[in-house]
Amino acid sequence: MDMVIRNATLVTHKETFRGEIGIQAGKIAKIGERISEGVITIDASGKLIFPGIIDAHTHMETPVKGYVSSDDFSTGTKAAAAGGVTTIIDFTIQAKGQSLKESIEERKRQANGRVYIDYALHCNLTDFNVSFLREIPEIIASGITSFKVFMAYRNEGIMVSNENLKLLLKETRKYGGLVQVHAENGFLLDYLVEKAIQRGNTSPLFHPKTRPNYVEEEAGVRAIVLAEEVGGNLYLVHLSTREAVEAVKWGKERGVKIFAETCPQYLLLTEEVYQWDDASYYITSPPLRSEEDKEALWQGIREGTIDVVATDHCPFTRAQKDGGKDIFFETPNGLPGVETLFPLIYSEGAVKRGLSPNKLVELLAYNPAKIFGLYPRKGAITEGSDADLVIFNPEKEMKIRANELHMNLDFSPYEGLTIKGIPELTISRGEIIYEQGNFPASQGRGKFVPTTPTH
Ligand code: URP
Ligand code: ZN
Ligand code: ZN
Repeated sequence: MDMVIRNATLVTHKETFRGEIGIQAGKIAKIGERISEGVITIDASGKLIFPGIIDAHTHMETPVKGYVSSDDFSTGTKAAAAGGVTTIIDFTIQAKGQSLKESIEERKRQANGRVYIDYALHCNLTDFNVSFLREIPEIIASGITSFKVFMAYRNEGIMVSNENLKLLLKETRKYGGLVQVHAENGFLLDYLVEKAIQRGNTSPLFHPKTRPNYVEEEAGVRAIVLAEEVGGNLYLVHLSTREAVEAVKWGKERGVKIFAETCPQYLLLTEEVYQWDDASYYITSPPLRSEEDKEALWQGIREGTIDVVATDHCPFTRAQKDGGKDIFFETPNGLPGVETLFPLIYSEGAVKRGLSPNKLVELLAYNPAKIFGLYPRKGAITEGSDADLVIFNPEKEMKIRANELHMNLDFSPYEGLTIKGIPELTISRGEIIYEQGNFPASQGRGKFVPTTPTH
């Protein structure tokens, strides 16, 4: 074997068991009792072995309001490795009039040669044209099976119409694809922003005030109803409200094929941050919400209404955020997360709230792999799967400090928070890519991984 991990406690979405893992040619070759020597042998006594984490929602080097998110595919995926993430799913960026196929090629050119870990892509439709629907079968066949639209960002000219959303849901389902939706009512929130501007209310405090819960609720319900009408496969990104959780529950009970995601920021932080001096650093859409919303999201996780926790990693430095200081609608929106996803959710979800480590695997690896067509290559600890593994120390504590993290960023929304449970060693396709502060792997070793239609 190329590598053997001994004395391991393996954690999958279903079970936790003792065993050894043998790795050969980048794959898990054997899981058993006593595997013969490896070229490299790792003793994992006292540690948990998780499948590599999949962050299904990242925005590396992405333009937002005249700024570009501060992590590129190199810094962002290196930081991901430090956090136990072995696959990201990022988004294509469609220029005005650009074919979807061209936007995919362009994004792959940006990522290839720079990524430390594997990546897949969601195809973003920001300049919707019905002629693009003809590209869908070929795109799905080429390994991109999810299509993303925004029900918000009307002023940016990228908001999808109801009719086009319905068309996309209808077309993608024919080929087993999925539609991802940023569900906020763009008309309503633009009206509320306009009203705030007229009144001179431009401080960050007015970011959440102009995006009340019903802005998300209405769009979420609308997307669910459209998906039901045409039998489409729907994935709602970054849920932030109790009302949206209830809408998803209602949709699932009606038999709509719907998946829901939330993010660490909505599970850990609340809107009180918008009162602070550095409030603009927390501007993200949808905004951070109330304690009640936060608890509803955790409940949604416990009862299976929420399927995935991903980060919406879209970091901006202090200087970039300061560019829009005191004018909330000019501040580039987004928060960092790819490096802290797993330890935060372990600490808050498993240690503090009693979620089982298996439930964490479900949310952070198994479900994203299943939903986006990466399973069983990713998201699994089974013979034949890619040897993407995290050796995790459940006892070690760490205080989050932005300057000790690896994201290209001088700010952390979780600064000073003590967490328990740290990824110590990350393996991607059988190669150690992170080990206690060191990165033995080389930039560009990551690969594009095609997703397969599963719906
Ligand atoms: O404010 C956010 N979340 N920025 C990233 C883009 C998006 O809407 O997901
Ligand atoms: Zn969004
Ligand atoms: Zn996003």
